[in-house]
Amino acid sequence: MRAWQVQELGEPLDVLRLESGVSVPEPGPGEIGIDVAACALNFPDALLCRGAYQERPPLPFTPGLEVSGTVRSLGPGAEARGLRIGQRVAAQPTLASGRGGLAEVTVAPMANVHPVPDSLDDAAAAALIVIYQTGWSALTRRANLQPGETLLVHAGAGGVGSAAIQMGKALGATVIATAGGPAKVEVCRALGADVAIDYQAEDFVAVVNEVTGGRGADVIYDPVGGDIFDRSTKCIAWEGRILIIGFTGGRIAQSATNHVLVKNYSVLGVHWGNYRRYEPEAVDRWHDELMDLHARGLIAPLVSQRVAFEDVPDRLMAIINRGTTGKLVVDVG
Ligand SMILES: NC(=O)c1ccc[n+]([C@@H]2O[C@H](COP(=O)([O-])OP(=O)(O)OC[C@H]3O[C@@H](n4cnc5c(N)ncnc54)[C@H](OP(=O)(O)O)[C@@H]3O)[C@@H](O)[C@H]2O)c1
Repeated sequence: MRAWQVQELGEPLDVLRLESGVSVPEPGPGEIGIDVAACALNFPDALLCRGAYQERPPLPFTPGLEVSGTVRSLGPGAEARGLRIGQRVAAQPTLASGRGGLAEVTVAPMANVHPVPDSLDDAAAAALIVIYQTGWSALTRRANLQPGETLLVHAGAGGVGSAAIQMGKALGATVIATAGGPAKVEVCRALGADVAIDYQAEDFVAVVNEVTGGRGADVIYDPVGGDIFDRSTKCIAWEGRILIIGFTGGRIAQSATNHVLVKNYSVLGVHWGNYRRYEPEAVDRWHDELMDLHARGLIAPLVSQRVAFEDVPDRLMAIINRGTTGKLVVDVG
């Protein structure tokens, strides 16, 4: 079968190789084999190529965090998940052993495989896992966002940001989004943001404080970190919650705990992937809730580009070079 492989660490364009003679992975105990239809690209795919992600599969490995497709085979014991051969599913492949989703066939632990309704096409099904689960767990579980509160979403036109705007609106919040440049600001507005700020051209702190009458944002969703985190502490509300989602800006900020005390706010870590390990039943519940939100028209992934299988390295470079919006989804099968 065909699969993208990383044989040495580096930039995606330099180290990804399209191999055509890769042996088809067989599901082990508790695993499910999947014929991949689509694989959504994520910023962490580029980090995996660089060896800079929290998971470091042994070389050579296939990246690809999330796929849609059909059940091809069931490993021993995996029938307990209640899925049948041929059923349409969305899944997170077994990355730790290097068998990611940028391949014609992949395998996933059965707990990472979820049924999807026919109303969801392959691209949307692949794109509705990581960024939505991350946002839903962060906003509902970690930050307990309430209707009527103000949510500030940084990098609102990106993957996790675009999903957070939609979910913030679905939860009844007023959503302020930031993004780099006028075109991305328009994307945030189209996604439902009540206020959108070009944070490369304007001081977002001043705008947030003005829009909220000086109170600040109740919840801040921060996938950027660095200076953006530092500045966010200047517009967080009394008893506000800052969600640490990622570090695309490159610098990991330090939190001044005296300031946390004085303004009575919380800095909340979000590592959604580990809910798979510590509380898999929560991930199942969130999947059902997200399917329901989608069925009610409250969320829908912004699939900005359908990517040919051969174009994966080029598109991963575009993601890390800040040149994309929403989700890029690779057509595999
Ligand atoms: N905590 C979790 O459980 C979890 C789950 C999934 C993803 N993540 C993390 O969330 C982050 C975003 O992932 P994503 O898939 O949404 O990525 P993405 O679609 O590429 O969006 C990231 C955005 O970050 C902004 N950005 C600001 N400074 C940047 C820089 N120096 N280089 C690149 N981008 C920069 C860009 O928006 P502007 O141009 O508008 O600034 C870019 O669009 C990543 O760090 C990822 O690892 C965390």
